[in-house]
Amino acid sequence: MPQSPFRHDLLHGKVALITGGGTGICFGIAQELARHGASVVLMGRREEVLKEAVASLHKEGLKAAFVSGDVRDYGQAEKAVATTVATFGRLDILLNGAAGNFLCPTDQLSANGFKTVIDIDLLGTFNMTRAAFKDLKSSGDSLVLNISATLHYQGTLMQAHVMAAKAGIEALGRNLACEWGEHGIRVCAIAPGAIGDTEGMRRLAPMGADKKIAAEVPLRRLGSIQDIANAAVFLSSSAASYITGEVLVVDGGAWLIKPALVTREMWEKLAAKSPRA
Ligand code: HXC
Repeated sequence: MPQSPFRHDLLHGKVALITGGGTGICFGIAQELARHGASVVLMGRREEVLKEAVASLHKEGLKAAFVSGDVRDYGQAEKAVATTVATFGRLDILLNGAAGNFLCPTDQLSANGFKTVIDIDLLGTFNMTRAAFKDLKSSGDSLVLNISATLHYQGTLMQAHVMAAKAGIEALGRNLACEWGEHGIRVCAIAPGAIGDTEGMRRLAPMGADKKIAAEVPLRRLGSIQDIANAAVFLSSSAASYITGEVLVVDGGAWLIKPALVTREMWEKLAAKSPRA
């Protein structure tokens, strides 16, 4: 286990509900929140996956439970919140991580394909957040942490559905940061870049595209689940108590950089021919 840069009891007493928490980035976040003292409830559609995830947290001596459900269904969102409060007595952190994605050119995308991703990502985030309002308010010091992406900061081919969903999530978050700040509820997001060893990378960067991405990112590597989990621990902690409405991009600088029109090698050749021209 890598040594955490944070104090081990940073989130002592906090209770977190994490959608999409059974696998991947959101499981990594759940694990890290729990390692810093939080009790965590994992929500997802597949009970077997959740059971296994919780068992591995219990093996580490961490406080964890699960609730199966689909974030697209408001009744199931309410059930997840109620189960969390019944199990651990409160709710302080809601992490909206459940997401769906696939590559598809828009001229091939069906209306139902578009709607499915909007429903999981955007409607799911609304459902969970709305259902959690009363308990987040009761906490008095709570956080809604949404998982966004950087896809919609530029035009990302074959990702119209996800771009629309994630842009909506960021807009919703900014609104709620304003509406719910007076109740002690902060609303933030993390926008991960390309994170190695995840379902997202397997779906979006097949056929060696991950190596190409790693070579082009300014920090010259793919992100890790630990990078995202560290950002989540920071935003969940009192160190971020005056931060709301923000989207923290954790992508090694990837979305900022444009393909070079003139490479360094080309520049060196030009400079050799005519210095300072
Ligand atoms: C085109 C597709 C498709 C594909 C499904 N559809 N897969 N269209 N290309 N590859 C269409 C179907 O044809 C159907 O439309 C509609 O979408 C619904 O499909 P279902 O399979 O019935 O939906 P469902 O079972 O609810 O599954 C949802 C899903 C699935 C999103 C399609 O892949 C899923 O459950 N994914 C969850 C896991 C996941 O995606 N993880 C990756 C997250 S990565 P029709 O018209 O035929 O009825 C991520 C990274 C973000 O989010 C960005 C980071 C950089």
